[in-house]
Amino acid sequence: MENSKIYVVDAGGKNSHLIARKIRMANVYCEIMPFEKFLKGDEIDNLKGVVFVANPESGMALPCVNISDDKGIEIPTLVCEGIDNPDEENLELIKFLFEKCKCEPSWKMGNFVEEKIQAIKQIVGDKKVLCALSGGVDSSVAAVLVHRAIGDNLTCVFVDHGLLRKDEAKQVMEVYGQQFNMKIRHVNARERFLGKLAGVSDPEQKRKIIGAEFISVFDDETKKIYDEEGEISFLLQGTIYSDVVESGVGGKLVKSHHNVGGLPEDMKLELLEPLRYLFKDEVRKLGEELGIAPKLVWRQPFPGPGLGVRCLGEITEEKLEILRETDAILREEIEKVGLNKDIWQYFTVIPEMKSVGVRDGERVYGHTIGIRAVTSVDAMSSDWARIPHDILAKISSRITDEVNGVNRVVYDITTKPPSTIEWE
Ligand code: XMP
Repeated sequence: MENSKIYVVDAGGKNSHLIARKIRMANVYCEIMPFEKFLKGDEIDNLKGVVFVANPESGMALPCVNISDDKGIEIPTLVCEGIDNPDEENLELIKFLFEKCKCEPSWKMGNFVEEKIQAIKQIVGDKKVLCALSGGVDSSVAAVLVHRAIGDNLTCVFVDHGLLRKDEAKQVMEVYGQQFNMKIRHVNARERFLGKLAGVSDPEQKRKIIGAEFISVFDDETKKIYDEEGEISFLLQGTIYSDVVESGVGGKLVKSHHNVGGLPEDMKLELLEPLRYLFKDEVRKLGEELGIAPKLVWRQPFPGPGLGVRCLGEITEEKLEILRETDAILREEIEKVGLNKDIWQYFTVIPEMKSVGVRDGERVYGHTIGIRAVTSVDAMSSDWARIPHDILAKISSRITDEVNGVNRVVYDITTKPPSTIEWE
């Protein structure tokens, strides 16, 4: 990255992430750096300033030494201690960036796209890249960006495990295959997954099966691609900055070579992670910049194991169909009234229970559907969304009227903790 940059040095404070976000929002590029790594001080090219995020209680001694660049020019430093007075701290930060460090507010998505495309072209050359496209925001944005750089030398594999939401597979193929004209191999592995999951009720076991089967399907497809199209050199991943930071910046070395699942040793793929330094909202902005529809770029998180974690007990095609239909109704109604912008995640779940009801004067024994809708900032904790009762009433009656086999709808009013967002 040629931009001038600021280091946010994590010196025992808890808020380096927040401070880094503020700097990026001021259109200045910055990276979070652990204290120990910073002390080694080997990467000061284009460094304009250093912000130490300290915790006064930690007793960690901050380096009072002058930091200077290769030419001996002193690099300005600032110590932030926390968010006791956010307004004052923001002002101090802005002054530091633009007055002391003389930063240019040049970190903009449009520039990023052009620079990154050139960089990807340089790294990849005319070699081939493989990507497991899930339809989620990160992998989709990464794929569209790399496709812009290298076109058909990118092959995406979309594994349809049969645990996707209503029309999701169709949408992924239409948007990325047709609209963006990307080379995507749609692998319909529904039967493979459902076969392996038959009779299994334990949630951990189900997760393990889905994870292992995904790798196995992806590997099989990769071998086919090798046979049909020749050698692949890179594996594209939608790793974003929070993944990097959460795994401990500099602490845990991310492997530069990655061997996909059970592929033979000689099929080594080098990792390509073009979103590695972007925060989630920057990834979304980048997606918009690349022309991906806002609806897709701002879509709610959806777990990798998909409806597999929302179908409690044994996973059957009948229960999945009920989930897809009820979830589609919920999403339609929430979007219609514009609540999708305020709610972090909203979906239906099918618990392992049936109960008695009446329909057309007859006693019926039907499924219960749970509605989960939560507000959150980071999914670490959440509150249940206060959806107005008349909207809940409409959702409930649509579900029982339109989806066969459902005679009861309940709304989950638990916070996380002690519950989790997903029912599993
Ligand atoms: P819980 O249920 O633990 O979920 O409160 C927290 C957040 O993580 C999402 N989630 C997953 N995301 N793969 C994912 O990519 C998974 O296996 C997975 N499990 C849970 C969940 O939807 C929520 O946003």
